Amino acid sequence: MKAVRIIEPFKVECIDVPKPTPKPGQALLKIMAAGICGSDIGAFRGTNNLVSYPRIIGHELSCIVESIPEDNNPKNIKVGDRVVVEPYLHCDHCYPCSIGRTNCCTSLQTLGVHTDGGMCEYFCHPGHMLVKIPEGMTWEQAAMAEPLTISLHGIHRGGFKAGEYCVVTGAGPIGLAAAMTAQAYNGHAILIDIVQERLDFAKNVAGIEYVINSSVEDPVKRISEITNGTMAQLVVECSGANSAIRAALDYACNAGRITLTGWPKKETSLPTDMITKKELDIRGGRNSAGEFEEALELIHTRRVDMEKLLTKVVTADEAPATIIDIEKNPGNYMKVIVKF
Ligand SMILES: NC(=O)c1ccc[n+]([C@@H]2O[C@H](COP(=O)([O-])OP(=O)(O)OC[C@H]3O[C@@H](n4cnc5c(N)ncnc54)[C@H](O)[C@@H]3O)[C@@H](O)[C@H]2O)c1
Ligand SMILES: [Zn+2]
Ligand SMILES: [Zn+2]
Repeated sequence: MKAVRIIEPFKVECIDVPKPTPKPGQALLKIMAAGICGSDIGAFRGTNNLVSYPRIIGHELSCIVESIPEDNNPKNIKVGDRVVVEPYLHCDHCYPCSIGRTNCCTSLQTLGVHTDGGMCEYFCHPGHMLVKIPEGMTWEQAAMAEPLTISLHGIHRGGFKAGEYCVVTGAGPIGLAAAMTAQAYNGHAILIDIVQERLDFAKNVAGIEYVINSSVEDPVKRISEITNGTMAQLVVECSGANSAIRAALDYACNAGRITLTGWPKKETSLPTDMITKKELDIRGGRNSAGEFEEALELIHTRRVDMEKLLTKVVTADEAPATIIDIEKNPGNYMKVIVKF
């Protein structure tokens, strides 16, 4: 079967590998679509130190069930069902797992990062970690549920409520989906980036209410104007830029909340007196837990229309050249899906 594999940083290939056989507890899945994520590009660049090589990438998957073990099928999924996979393998024994926070398991294994992913024709995955796709949804839409769960998790961790203002920093797929979600929750989204094309796309294509280019105008002044001086009840940081993490403290209102979803490359120094003075709640947001059903529903009802983020659909044979081009020209792409 075909598989898209990173051999070592800056070397990617579509190769022929043996079709896998499921181990106890695993379902056999025929992959229909796999999204290319920023973390797959990170694996290609060699900038994610959690990735070991060679590595088959891909964790944003939609598929058909070919077989599923009876003893690991709590959702009563049938052969032939259309499903997405929860791609964060966890131990079920550690403290975070014991309280349902499986997304930050102490021995977490993310597909395509710590272990081979699903950008291939057939894939084996635990039977209990599959979620049924609503009727009438396309394979591409379903493959975009995973990145939406990341954004949703940031919004949930920040306790976002209708009527509130949500500042999102970073207008990539994760930040844009977070801003779209804030609006779907009947709140106001204010999306900040330093690349005008991304902001124009967010405003004109995705319908984001307010966009701010922080490299040409003062975001604090604009947020203050938009919120009548209150500032934002929630800031979801989705750029990973140290300056944006620092600025989140300025964008949040007194008694406000901040979720840190972006992965910074180095540490950020923060004026903690401001955290005390404003009494801010600052939380991390890693992966997602139990959020696939809601993500699928939001996409299905088009309350969060992830299809607007779809730049291109390619074949597995075209995937290596596309990955090379995304790495060189990231500004030309939002979401690319590999169709099998
Ligand atoms: N926590 C998680 O589980 C999780 C999962 C997926 C991705 N991520 C992280 O989320 C972030 C966003 O992912 P993505 O795929 O959308 O990435 P992306 O690179 O497509 O988007 C990042 C955006 O941030 C913008 N940006 C850069 N510096 C900025 C600044 N100073 N202020 C405002 N915007 C700035 C960039 O122009 C870009 O548009 C990344 O850091 C990624 O590693 C985290
Ligand atoms: Zn992803
Ligand atoms: Zn665990």
